[in-house]
Order: sequence, then structure tokens, then C-alpha cells
Amino acid sequence: MKHALVIGGSGMLAGTVLWLAEVGYHVSIIGRDGEKMSRLTERLPDRLSAVLVDYRDDLLLKEALRRSIEIHGDFDLVVAWIYSDAADALPCVLSALQRGTDVFHLLGSRANPSGVRNGLTIPEDVRYHQVQLGYQVVKGQRRWLTHEEIAGGVVEAIQEKKPLCLVGFATK
Ligand SMILES: NC(=O)c1ccc[n+]([C@@H]2O[C@H](COP(=O)([O-])OP(=O)(O)OC[C@H]3O[C@@H](n4cnc5c(N)ncnc54)[C@H](OP(=O)(O)O)[C@@H]3O)[C@@H](O)[C@H]2O)c1
Repeated sequence: MKHALVIGGSGMLAGTVLWLAEVGYHVSIIGRDGEKMSRLTERLPDRLSAVLVDYRDDLLLKEALRRSIEIHGDFDLVVAWIYSDAADALPCVLSALQRGTDVFHLLGSRANPSGVRNGLTIPEDVRYHQVQLGYQVVKGQRRWLTHEEIAGGVVEAIQEKKPLCLVGFATK
């Protein structure tokens, strides 16, 4: 079975996690709060695995990735929603990947996609994609994206596999 890793998957990306499981992945999900995580994993216990780790701790993250790969195999696909206080987390994940993995890196509205990309060392044959979160307009008013809009936008990005996808409208 294909193996996906969703970093920060127990929050707004829960819909993406469930879609990945439905289309045939075993999904390992990184988060810290066990109760929040259980509410998600109990929906498809055979397909979803909790990886309870604080991704700011490189050593713990590395060990958690190693164990996850040992149990479910190399990652075929990674979705990463990582806060800016964990600059080393994505490099740590990238260094654990094998050839051909698709990585979908979520960026906040104010991030500079090319600056982020240039700051990363992406291993040869890892296919790196960015998904930038924008905003929505309802009755002339700007608002943030809902969880469903974000999770659905990430699903579209996974299907389209473009280097950069925007969810909603760009923030200028
Ligand atoms: N442009 C936009 O419209 C936009 C952009 C961003 C966010 N938002 C909105 O803002 C709201 C909040 O967003 P959010 O960033 O809180 O997203 P979230 O996806 O609800 O929560 C963050 C996720 O990352 C995990 N996480 C956070 N820090 C971690 C750490 N150090 N180690 C491991 N896992 C960690 C959390 O799990 P644990 O809590 O268990 O650690 C959770 O799964 C959402 O409702 C979303 O709709 C909108």
C-alpha cells in the first residue's frame, strides 16, 4: 500500500487525510494532541496512524519518521503544514525521503514561494510542490479560508501536481 505523511494533519487538513485514505494510501499523521488526533484516526483506524511528536524537536522527529517508514514503508507522498518556528522540520523530512516522492508544502498567505523554495535543499528526484493559502471573497468581503476549502484545495493541488497552486485568491 502507498504511504502518505501529513504533517499537521489533525487540524484543518483532516479532510485531505481522509481523502488520501479513501484513494488508497496508508496515512501517517503528525500532531501533538492525542485526543484531537484520536478523533481523526478512529474514523478509519486501519488506514490512519498517529505520529505524536513535536516537529520542533529534530531528534524526536527523525526517530518518529524512521519508525513510521519501518512499519508502513517509504513515503510516496508528503503534505507539510509546518509553522515558521520549526525551520529545521522540513529539511529533516526531506532528508528521510526516497526517489520519486511528491512533497506538497503549504505556505501561509504572506509567504514568498520562490524565497521559501530557494531556502530549501530539495533532494534529487524528490518532486517538490507548493500550495499557497489565499483568501475568499463573500458578498464583497474578504475572509480566511475554511478548513473544507483548505483541505479541498490541497486535494486539487495533489491531483494537479503543479509546482505552485493557490487556494482562493492571492493576498497582495
Ligand atoms: N489563508 C487562510 O485563509 C488561512 C491560512 C492558515 C490558516 N487558516 C485558518 O486558521 C486556522 C488555524 O490554523 P492552524 O495553523 O491552527 O491550523 P490547524 O491545521 O488547525 O492546526 C495546526 C496543525 O499542526 C499541528 N502542529 C502544530 N504545531 C505542531 C508541532 N510543533 N509539532 C507537531 N504538530 C504540530 C497541530 O496538531 P497539534 O495541535 O496536535 O500539535 C495541527 O494538526 C484554521 O482554522 C484555518 O482555517 C487560514
